[in-house]
Amino acid sequence: MLLKYIKRARHLARFELRMLQVYLFDYRRYRKHAAPNRRFSNDLQRGAFLLMVLHSIEKGLTMAVPRGFFGRDKAELIMKTYRAMQFDEGSRWLHCYTFRVLEAYQRHLLEHGETPQTFLDSLNRFLETHKDEHESPDIEGGALSLRAVQSPRFTDSQLSALFETRHSTRMFREGTIPKQHLLLAARMAHSGPAACNRHPCRVHYINKGPLMKRALEIQGGNTGFESEIAHVAVVTCDLSSFLDLSERNQPWVEGGLFAMSLVLAFHAMGYGTCCLNWAATIEQDQAIRATGVVEDRHCVIMLIGLGLLRDDYVAAASTRAPEDQLATFHD
Ligand SMILES: Cc1cc2nc3c(=O)[nH]c(=O)nc-3n(C[C@H](O)[C@H](O)[C@H](O)COP(=O)(O)O)c2cc1C
Repeated sequence: MLLKYIKRARHLARFELRMLQVYLFDYRRYRKHAAPNRRFSNDLQRGAFLLMVLHSIEKGLTMAVPRGFFGRDKAELIMKTYRAMQFDEGSRWLHCYTFRVLEAYQRHLLEHGETPQTFLDSLNRFLETHKDEHESPDIEGGALSLRAVQSPRFTDSQLSALFETRHSTRMFREGTIPKQHLLLAARMAHSGPAACNRHPCRVHYINKGPLMKRALEIQGGNTGFESEIAHVAVVTCDLSSFLDLSERNQPWVEGGLFAMSLVLAFHAMGYGTCCLNWAATIEQDQAIRATGVVEDRHCVIMLIGLGLLRDDYVAAASTRAPEDQLATFHD
């Protein structure tokens, strides 16, 4: 009896230790790559912060009841963060976007009066001093004027068909998805929402070959259909974008939204997908990083098997609970 008790206690202690170990692993990664205390150690973190503050100015420009003078503290943070950053080819868009937002903000302040002249002067000086001759005219910033009639209209049945004809596919036809479609799907997924407009998710495509085989081996949930898959999409989320302790679980929210958009984009283009779980152990997480596909600062959200649909194929019915268990209405 006592022996049984000791065995059970030892088992529980081992489990608790293992649990602490995985939380410590996540803690260390968040501590290393995110900036929850806002002490930035690189331009990725500064860039995420800049996006976040630019977004609060943009939001202020799009209220139903226009605000007069607002956002001075945010604009000062934008100018300070911008000055602390080194822009290169990869971040030139962010430089242009900063200008577009500040220019729109300046127009708003001039239209709405009430703004202290000293602040207007400092904004003006900033815009004049840092203006880039090579700015890209197609980068927008500030408020967009939109019309509801411009949104495409689909019937309920057309929309349901888009969602309900998607099934996880574990058999594919020979052949590959053209690169421009892999890119188009990524672009469509990128157009989804993201907290404070930071868009921390990326997709890393691996084509059929030894690297894809290794990634699938590490994932482990594809037994029996691994040879059918034409490409693997590894969806990741960059921890450098997160700037608060309360955001410690945010990568999984952002990643889930991005991954779902990607899956629907491929489905809408007529390709087959199968989400592949990344409920990974520390060892799996380290193993995928060792392949070189994923940088250390990226969390892996999931893998997605991709391929061409066969003319005829079978998929699991994966029946759902009835509708009345799906939505609850409250007044
Ligand atoms: C996060 C996530 C992880 C999944 N992982 C796997 C997996 O490892 N292997 C697999 O065959 N299917 C996997 N699936 C697919 C599910 O089994 C499937 O989505 C579910 O049965 C619903 O079926 P449907 O996608 O055809 O609607 C995963 C789905 C999600 C959303």
